[in-house]
Amino acid sequence: MREAARRCREAPDTLALVQQYLAEPLALVEERMHQAVLEGEEPTRQLLAGSLRQGGKRIRPILALLAAEALGGSPAPAVDAAAAAELIHTASLLHDDVVDHAATRRGKPTLHSLWGNKLAVLGGDFILAQALRLLLGTGDLRLMESMATTVAAMGEGEILQIFHLFDTDTTEEDYLARIRRKTAVLMACACEMGARLAGASPSAVEALKAYGMAVGLAFQVVDDLLDYVGDQTTVGKPVGSDLLEGNLTLPVIHALRKPGGGVIRDWLERRALTPKRVQHVADLVRRYGSLDYAYGVAEGFVKEAQAALAGLPDTPARAWLDALAVYLLCRES
Ligand code: FPP
Ligand code: MG
Repeated sequence: MREAARRCREAPDTLALVQQYLAEPLALVEERMHQAVLEGEEPTRQLLAGSLRQGGKRIRPILALLAAEALGGSPAPAVDAAAAAELIHTASLLHDDVVDHAATRRGKPTLHSLWGNKLAVLGGDFILAQALRLLLGTGDLRLMESMATTVAAMGEGEILQIFHLFDTDTTEEDYLARIRRKTAVLMACACEMGARLAGASPSAVEALKAYGMAVGLAFQVVDDLLDYVGDQTTVGKPVGSDLLEGNLTLPVIHALRKPGGGVIRDWLERRALTPKRVQHVADLVRRYGSLDYAYGVAEGFVKEAQAALAGLPDTPARAWLDALAVYLLCRES
């Protein structure tokens, strides 16, 4: 991880810088997102007002805007699609927090912990529908098709995850297939929509989609890794939460196959994990090199993402996409 750590020290501000670079279109994206929620009546507005202001990184809008700029010269045509992608992400997190029994997200109470599961799920449904409306407004049915396929895949990704909770036979391939659906497809879709709205050629659309998919895979591998290394204050949720829920991610899948992994298998199979044992697993995962291994897998996806950009014109937007891929590997929250 040493080489990666060096690169990360050199590129710590990428997200802030790219947000600055895209300040104008990102402000419009925020406006569209708020409008979409404000179209609801009371008490829907009251319920959802805070859910858009939770300090998200806005990665999906950034991807859509940069994709459009990289292929058409301006991010402007992608504003509505960028807002729709972030709304879909927001809706999926409202549902995911119910599924995961997560009390906090980014250090703040989740909607279901404040209002209950029913309202959190229904609020997510409302936001999802408003996102589809925004996409319909673009008049481009290909975007609707791409997003419908994406949301279906996300749902299936979560279903797969639930069916395989505590499943110690989960392989790395199973894990990658699951995170491709639950996370990567939406990033690929954001890139695809931006590219299509810029009038890109089919091969350029495919290149950006491939970039988004690889970046999404790297993002989720890092997200899952942070569950073992991050501390609660930066990650915004308790360390080891995935494992406690029975969600086997790459570090633990790797550690399970080590000679000393039997104890983890035993605890999982007997559903006998406790916060103290999860801490012990976190130590084992580190000792067995499983974090380094997972980090290496994420790095491989970042290289894949960068390679996908190679055929695109040399523009500032392409350079930002390249830098963003590296940043996602380095993030700590
Ligand atoms: C976070 O995963 C969750 C996702 C990336 C996708 C969730 C998808 C759904 C609930 C199905 C689709 C639903 C809609 C409304 C579009 P995580 O739990 O690993 O990450 P976390 O640590 O951020 O919670
Ligand atoms: Mg979750």
